[in-house]
Amino acid sequence: MKTLLIVHHTMTGGTAQMARAAHDAAVAAEPALCVRLLRADEGQPADVLAADGYLFATPENLAAMAGLMKDFFDRCYYAALECIGGRPYATMVCAGSDGANAVRQIERIATGWRLKAVAPALIVCTRAQTPEAILAPKTIGAEDLARCGELGAALASGLMLGLW
Ligand SMILES: Cc1cc2nc3c(=O)[nH]c(=O)nc-3n(C[C@H](O)[C@H](O)[C@H](O)COP(=O)(O)O)c2cc1C
Repeated sequence: MKTLLIVHHTMTGGTAQMARAAHDAAVAAEPALCVRLLRADEGQPADVLAADGYLFATPENLAAMAGLMKDFFDRCYYAALECIGGRPYATMVCAGSDGANAVRQIERIATGWRLKAVAPALIVCTRAQTPEAILAPKTIGAEDLARCGELGAALASGLMLGLW
């Protein structure tokens, strides 16, 4: 059975909703695919090695991917190096207003792993600007959740069809 691994971190809930939307759409699109939704702090090298494709989802914090997402990559990078080249991946970032640098960081790591980007990175901006808004629980809108779902479904179907 093929496996899509979705690894995510969230602090105020936005990225978790995005990852869940991608997961649910992937499951609906491809019931025969194993779709795993893991928190970044749970993700181990064995999870990375066992998957056929990846969706990485993180908030952008201080112009970087979230620290726990970085910790996941730090924990798994060398164990998976030279073992997962050519596998497909995509990235989702939940940001207040930017998100580009978190995308760049993940793309750089994925390049090291020799993964194949199969979709443009998806950035959802929550428009949180004040400290109060930034620390408040997030609700991602239906349109953005639909974009996350489309990405999850596309990854799932591409994997099952052997597109990559
Ligand atoms: C410490 C901290 C730093 C942040 N830095 C950025 C940033 O550099 N760029 C940005 O667009 N948003 C930034 N944000 C906003 C978050 O990306 C935004 O609130 C997002 O919704 C967080 O995702 P989450 O709800 O999954 O935790 C920051 C938030 C926090 C708490």
